[in-house]
Amino acid sequence: MKIELENNKVFFNKGSNKEEIHPFWLRERVDGEEFLDKGTQQRLFDPSTMNSNIIIERAKINGNFLEINFNDGVTTKLDINKISSEFSNKDTVIKSINKIKWDSSLKNIKNFIYKENFFDSKEMHDLLVSFYRYGFVVIENVPTKNNFIVNFANSVGSVRRTNFGEHFNVRSKLNPNDLAYTTLHLSPHTDNPYRNPVPCIQLLHCIENEVSGGYSTLVDGYTVTENLKKEDYEAYKILSEIKVKFKFIDKNVVLEDWSELIKLDENSEFKQVRFSPRLDYVPMLDKKTLESYYKARKKLSDLYNSEKNRIEFKLKPGDLMMMDNYRVLHGRTKFDPEEGKRFLQGCYIDFDSTEGKLRHLKRKFK
Ligand SMILES: [Fe+2]
Repeated sequence: MKIELENNKVFFNKGSNKEEIHPFWLRERVDGEEFLDKGTQQRLFDPSTMNSNIIIERAKINGNFLEINFNDGVTTKLDINKISSEFSNKDTVIKSINKIKWDSSLKNIKNFIYKENFFDSKEMHDLLVSFYRYGFVVIENVPTKNNFIVNFANSVGSVRRTNFGEHFNVRSKLNPNDLAYTTLHLSPHTDNPYRNPVPCIQLLHCIENEVSGGYSTLVDGYTVTENLKKEDYEAYKILSEIKVKFKFIDKNVVLEDWSELIKLDENSEFKQVRFSPRLDYVPMLDKKTLESYYKARKKLSDLYNSEKNRIEFKLKPGDLMMMDNYRVLHGRTKFDPEEGKRFLQGCYIDFDSTEGKLRHLKRKFK
């Protein structure tokens, strides 16, 4: 893409066509000291209060800079590379990382090793890229001091507090308010589908694990739903259209949210899966629609629970797993508490944490 001038009008040439850049768009981007705070890169003026009749009186290209005199008396020198980078409205950091589909055949995925100054390191950058590719990542050697999980979360971004607190302890207990706090097998599910918004990422830190069972299981919701789309489009369609209610009840709170089991974005592409068959309530639709819905949900459930789609591994003390709760389903195999202790700590963060950190590290290591 190239910047060109013609009669004091500025154009960008995409090769196939040439389009004029609106003078106001350029005027909004003036970056002299009186217009832009150098530290924060925030505007010192409010363009929404400006006269909209902005005209370019004179424009000149000088090396890598575009020099402009506007009709309101403002002159500026704009970095051509900087404004060119804005011509594409695609996110170049997060969305440009392609998701890699995986199933039980996934082998040799890289684990990362925690060390000092980890959160501002190239290792952290690579870890986040891997997280966006696969939807999960495991970090070994994370200090097993009590509540270090909260430090960890707050060093990537900010912990997402819920009514369970800043973090939660996963060990079996009497009178649990969730099956997670038992020794039972947990089939693949996403966490907290009843929240608005659903927590984006779950961190799970293994503190003690002396039992022979209690394996962690993961399933890629992206792979499964993309495969379903190819193999049974009708089932995929109904699951991405019907909104169901997810509900969680505790002594002091009733949480409820509605969503499709497969949520698509504005381009009808994968956005999020929610799956927790202990908590979902489809509305009373007509019998024929429900017939199709139940068939489709059974199909999806079979795929989520199939060995072909599941990876299974044991977390050892110090391992911290970070999972995209919008993409990856997690579960565990049952264990026998008589064999010893099993203690994990968990918490949530949202996508602003990982996105903000990754953009910062991209800028640092570019
Ligand atoms: Fe869970």
